[in-house]
Amino acid sequence: MKILVTGGLGFIGSHTVVELQNKGYQVVVIDNLSNSTIKVLDGIEEISGKKPDFFDIDLRDKSLVSNLFSQNLDINGVIHFAASKAVGESVQNPLLYYENNLNTLVYLLQNMQNKERSNFIFSSSCTVYGQAEVMPIVENAPVQVAMSPYGNTKQIGEEIIIDTSKVTNINTILLRYFNPIGAHPSAKIGELPIGVPQNLVPFITQTAAGIREQLSVYGADYPTADGTCIRDYIHVVDLAKAHVVALERLMNEQNIDKVEIFNVGTGQGSSVLEVIKTFEEVSQTKLNYKIVARREGDVVEAYANTDKVNTVLGWKAESNLKQALESAWLWEQKIRS
Ligand code: WQD
Repeated sequence: MKILVTGGLGFIGSHTVVELQNKGYQVVVIDNLSNSTIKVLDGIEEISGKKPDFFDIDLRDKSLVSNLFSQNLDINGVIHFAASKAVGESVQNPLLYYENNLNTLVYLLQNMQNKERSNFIFSSSCTVYGQAEVMPIVENAPVQVAMSPYGNTKQIGEEIIIDTSKVTNINTILLRYFNPIGAHPSAKIGELPIGVPQNLVPFITQTAAGIREQLSVYGADYPTADGTCIRDYIHVVDLAKAHVVALERLMNEQNIDKVEIFNVGTGQGSSVLEVIKTFEEVSQTKLNYKIVARREGDVVEAYANTDKVNTVLGWKAESNLKQALESAWLWEQKIRS
């Protein structure tokens, strides 16, 4: 069974390629290396014993996408990670995000619609909920007005898929991720943020590694127990495994609806200060941080109701925050060694 993974050299993509190959799937990776490096292929091979087929293709090139599909007519499933994902950058450069995240989705769907049946896993995000009214967040919580062009591309992407599924035989599972963190326990692949990390955990590990001087905690005056924002931090390997389970649901034609939606999180909320404290225990270091002003666009709380993903999809996170942070720290030390 041949699976196309777009953005397969990225953070979540590379971990998913490992899990697919561990289960015996033949994987074709396309990636334009805008947010990853070709060396990730070696890490994937070292872990899973196989190097996937790789094409350095930019999905914005419509003809290249069509050629790829015509040369790989035996693709049984597509997992689509390739997208720009920095919230702040999307505010500064919206057209880059609308072109890169939406045109590419349209080109993929145009090629998949010609097949008798297509199985499609779309990388979505809890960002679509904005600040949900009720915690933990369920899948039918209202999608709120996006707080960034990045979040908007996820919402519009979901709508494009829903509309397309009505008139084609493309079967889709939308996976709404919460906060992916950590790295493969082998420390052969992990997160490789380019430049100053935007996300909390890579900034923490780089601060502990001495790459960054001090972590800024964006606000401690929120209406939470310790005043800092709460998120659902999920180990990237658990998230990768969820993609394989979702894909097999589609390939075995077990999906009830043409488009199914699942929140993929641990169901556990952790505050920024709790993450810092847990990291200090894990690393046996004192983290240098200071409380600063709130960051524009942050929601106060977001953690998943996992009933549906546990019972319908049949997937459950296996690692907790401590284990995920241990893997993140091991990876940071490895890449700095
Ligand atoms: C988590 C918490 C920050 C950095 C984003 C995207 C989401 C997904 C995951 C792509 C917040 C605080 C952070 C720092 C801090 N990305 N923080 N100091 O914003 O929940 O989600 O990344 O799919 O779509 O929105 O993740 O890690 O940036 O922030 O205090 O240096 O850590 O304020 O409360 P976020 P994050």
